Amino acid sequence: MATQFGDERDWFLEKRFGLFVHWGIYAIPGWQEQHQWRGRMPANEYVKLAEQWNPTNFNPDAWLDIAEEAGMQYIIVTTKHHDGFCLWDTAHTAFNTMNTPYGKDLMAMLADACHKRNFPLGFYYSIADWHHPNYPNQGRHHELPQPKPGDDPDLMKYLEFLKAQVWELCTHYGKLHAFWWDMNVDEHFDPSVNAMIRSLQPAAVINNRGFDPGDFGTPERDHVQGIDTQQSFDRLTEACQSVGFESWGYRVDEDYYTDRHLIRSIDRYLARDANYLLNVGPKPDGTIPDASKHILKRIGKWYRAVAEAVKDVEPASHLTRNRDILLTRRDNVIYVHLVNDPRTSGVKLDPIDVAPKNATLLNTGEPVDFTVDLVPTNHIEHKPYLRLQNLPVNELINTVMVVKLEFDEIIE
Ligand code: GLC
Repeated sequence: MATQFGDERDWFLEKRFGLFVHWGIYAIPGWQEQHQWRGRMPANEYVKLAEQWNPTNFNPDAWLDIAEEAGMQYIIVTTKHHDGFCLWDTAHTAFNTMNTPYGKDLMAMLADACHKRNFPLGFYYSIADWHHPNYPNQGRHHELPQPKPGDDPDLMKYLEFLKAQVWELCTHYGKLHAFWWDMNVDEHFDPSVNAMIRSLQPAAVINNRGFDPGDFGTPERDHVQGIDTQQSFDRLTEACQSVGFESWGYRVDEDYYTDRHLIRSIDRYLARDANYLLNVGPKPDGTIPDASKHILKRIGKWYRAVAEAVKDVEPASHLTRNRDILLTRRDNVIYVHLVNDPRTSGVKLDPIDVAPKNATLLNTGEPVDFTVDLVPTNHIEHKPYLRLQNLPVNELINTVMVVKLEFDEIIE
């Protein structure tokens, strides 16, 4: 287990798998959450979407049921994405859910549902803002090409607005478990912002995309080269990924990832002591798209079967030379995670040369054959090593198999 904080933030080391939700008026055209930037929809056209915002089927309990069924243990939701539209009753901009046909505070509804079932809630907040007149849009990445007519670009004024909004989010919605910054395009540094969050919400872990390094790193999708070959992380990490390839927000015509891709990605992080946030984009009516729901359900089935291999464990891949697998362990138990495409029905665990008492495939509950013997490919060392045999590799090709090995002793 990663080093503890020694305070209320320690929840983050126990609850490792969360639901990420990107939701806003961009769900109405259903193209992508960055419709104004990637899709170049003019800002004056975009703001009109608020006139149609009416998610009458929004039921926060339905979201939480889906998350819990998938084995997820916390939720992070976009309170304001780059478009600047706010999903809560904010006093600091009229561009919010109260001034729409729906007219209700969505974050209050979600927070109530979370608190009722003690489900940790975190707020995502985009620093880049394509609506607020003081945000200095100037054509950098994730910014409009220039200020809109009538804007008054002024970073310091914008930060006053931002702090006032963060104060609202940290004082009006009960206990928060996370504050999830995004898109500090300016790379402005100001530790006073996180200090305010920490004083108001001591249980909230804060990510590294804000105004100081925060508590944890946030590798996204498959963007970070070489990260899969690292056996562990230097600091607390929470990877994030969406169920769809093109978008985090609802996309009508999404190309969804395969279960295999997602499960591998999830296990590769969980088995290395990182957290994982898997994202869905609810539809404009407030419901989670069926395709996303089904993906979460299938992933949940896998996760529940193997969960003991990632809970209260430590990464232990250093115990083997086999780089096709990852290992985790708890006392005398070692879990073997087949995170790469198995090339054969056997798994070599050299230099471990001890036989376990039991070997079980967690995905099915079936026993796994094993032996400690000399194999031809180890002829130079000429030593017997532990080897798992006859795994159902062709049957379970679309998942990550995890094998539980129970030993009489601690393997060093
Ligand atoms: C990127 C995208 C953004 C998304 C975020 C999630 O920063 O710009 O749309 O919210 O990733 O990590």
